[in-house]
Amino acid sequence: MSLKSICCIGAGYVGGPTCSVIAYRCPDIKVTVVDLSVERITQWNSDVLPIFEPGLDDIVKSVRNKNLFFSTDITAAINEADLIFICVNTPTKSYGLGKGRAADLKYIESAARMIADVASQSKIVVEKSTVPVKAAESISNILRANQKPGVKYQVLSNPEFLAEGTAVKDLLNPDRVLIGGEQNHDGQQAIATLAWVYKHWVPEDNVITMNTWSSELSKLAANAFLAQRISSINAMSAVCEYTGADVSEVAHAVGMDSRIGNKFLKASVDEPVIGKASIGFGGSCFQKDVLNLVYLCECLNLPEVADYWQQVININEYQRRRFANRIIQCLFNTVTNKKIAIFGFSFKKDTGDTRESAAIYVVKYLLEEGAHIRIYDPKVETEQMFRELTHPSISDDPEKG
Ligand code: NAI
Repeated sequence: MSLKSICCIGAGYVGGPTCSVIAYRCPDIKVTVVDLSVERITQWNSDVLPIFEPGLDDIVKSVRNKNLFFSTDITAAINEADLIFICVNTPTKSYGLGKGRAADLKYIESAARMIADVASQSKIVVEKSTVPVKAAESISNILRANQKPGVKYQVLSNPEFLAEGTAVKDLLNPDRVLIGGEQNHDGQQAIATLAWVYKHWVPEDNVITMNTWSSELSKLAANAFLAQRISSINAMSAVCEYTGADVSEVAHAVGMDSRIGNKFLKASVDEPVIGKASIGFGGSCFQKDVLNLVYLCECLNLPEVADYWQQVININEYQRRRFANRIIQCLFNTVTNKKIAIFGFSFKKDTGDTRESAAIYVVKYLLEEGAHIRIYDPKVETEQMFRELTHPSISDDPEKG
């Protein structure tokens, strides 16, 4: 059941913190995090980590170069590992079939091919990235079509539920750990091996196992439910503004119903900004994963279900646009040549991640109206702000940024 060495492909917002916590909680396991990006690995090995998460610095510094290693030698790390996490990015496709909705699986495929090319011993391969249902089957097919004699693979699904800004807390005390695998003897053994890793610190009852497809779908479903909750309170905020009702009072009253609960509805200092009526959700996951679910429903010929989830995205876009319009209205219906300060550019507090931040869209709308914008965020570099604002999907004319 036990294993000695873990490799993680992808040193990003998920791979870095997740594997740091595994190394911290499992001193008997060697954990190596690898990435194609030399810059990212150099940062992980430096005093200034590539991502900001409360509590992460201390954990990394306590185990780095003891049983936690960051490396660009992907071949060596794959070969040494008994178990390999795939934690690469799965962005929304920006080209071809499924453009703007389906997940782009090119990085997953390249990671699977790298494993097949270099592995000379059997491995458990764990899909931690968020993927469409049945992605594990594609990974299995790639691995098995290219496997060397005597090498066997078991592919598991183990989606990650951490939220940026509270990643360390979420990883140390997860609500649940989900492991999906094949329902045969070898599959069950692989599940038990991964469960053994988590049981170093997660109570047994919180580690749940199921079939691979349920596990893959559960991650998309969880993010769709969370995003839907935010769009629900934001839709209510529009009704409030036209009726004189106060959205915080409505959220408070609704959230006191124990069947509904107040998380993600009620404003509180401890909750992320998206936890109350707001400019809408941002971040790399909610929009991407809901779109991924919409695409899945369309492919399954379930147009009513696809439309239902698409509406969660539509309300989010409506809320961002509505917020910018209110600023313009409040400034006498024109912001041309007016100086507007934006405090905060990341998608929520306690993170420097700007992916899909609502701030990007609000700034874009105000720039289009001729406003002069000054942005301040202590966790985001100026170059990063310019990169986001001049990205082709945001600005057709890079000069505008
Ligand atoms: P990220 O973009 O921060 O990191 C991905 C890393 O993978 C990059 O450093 C990239 O260079 C590397 N990479 C890509 N292809 C590679 C290859 N073939 N070999 C080696 N390295 C490779 O992405 P992030 O945010 O860590 O997300 C990873 C996955 O986890 C995604 O599927 C995402 O949906 C999911 N997820 C993300 C969460 C978040 O809060 N960011 C939370 C839960 C799941």
